[in-house]
Amino acid sequence: MGNIFNFSGKTAIVTGAGRGIGRVIALGLAEAGANVVLCSRTKAEIDGVADEIHKKGGKTLSVVTDLTDNEQLDNLVSSTIKEFGRIDILVNNAARSFLRGLLDLREDGWDKCFNTNVKAVWLLSRLVARQMIEQKSGKIINITTVGADKAEAGMAAYGCSKAALKMLTRCMAREWAQLGINVNAVAPGFTRTDFSKPIWSNPDIEKLICNTIPKGKIAEPEDVVGAVLFLASSAADYITGDTIYVDGGTMTT
Ligand SMILES: NC(=O)c1ccc[n+]([C@@H]2O[C@H](COP(=O)([O-])OP(=O)(O)OC[C@H]3O[C@@H](n4cnc5c(N)ncnc54)[C@H](OP(=O)(O)O)[C@@H]3O)[C@@H](O)[C@H]2O)c1
Repeated sequence: MGNIFNFSGKTAIVTGAGRGIGRVIALGLAEAGANVVLCSRTKAEIDGVADEIHKKGGKTLSVVTDLTDNEQLDNLVSSTIKEFGRIDILVNNAARSFLRGLLDLREDGWDKCFNTNVKAVWLLSRLVARQMIEQKSGKIINITTVGADKAEAGMAAYGCSKAALKMLTRCMAREWAQLGINVNAVAPGFTRTDFSKPIWSNPDIEKLICNTIPKGKIAEPEDVVGAVLFLASSAADYITGDTIYVDGGTMTT
């Protein structure tokens, strides 16, 4: 079988690569040999991740991108093709959330969640798919959440947008299966990043959360990387439209 987790010569775009889960996915893909295109709105953060990768001999391209701006999506894809000539892997990781009950949630909060977590994923994936169709191959991996299946108080806009992303994953998988593109999702449970800091930074609340997770602890960003590498590899060539849960057993409860 050779080393199926060697991504040398492949190019991967990772959205939201400046911190949290996206950062470690970018580092993991680079360590496996891929050229990695890092995108987020914060230049200093993606440049910092680029430095980490360069120190280990990897190749990157940093493209500051607001995923809710169509022209910036075009620029992200055209810059990638100009630099590396191809796109083999797209990890749609960037997302936003609001902790607000449905009675108080503002309409623009709902729109921001859906525009970033669903619409931008569709538009970017479509641009990338056109390149992958020419190559007759490609892997798209969407980062969803257990919150796409489980209703959490105060997380409706986020959860509904991620449930839509789960369905978008299946729709893209179905429409693009015969064009050489596999589309799957990785759904983390509670993971220690800035995103969830308001919760885990309080030891009492962290303890309460850990008591609800069969594994008894929250995930570290590094826990999510293996599932992404697997879905990006040839080991997953016959898997499409599926979701791998990286949740310490949360979905069993
Ligand atoms: N942490 C958890 O507990 C958890 C659990 C389940 C699933 N997830 C999922 O895992 C993924 C990563 O989460 P995380 O915890 O690592 O989040 P995070 O630490 O908040 O990082 C989010 C990343 O997305 C980028 N981003 C947000 N809006 C963007 C936009 N409009 N354009 C470009 N980039 C944008 C951010 O960069 P800028 O702000 O600089 O643009 C940042 O790099 C998300 O899809 C999230 O839903 C997280």
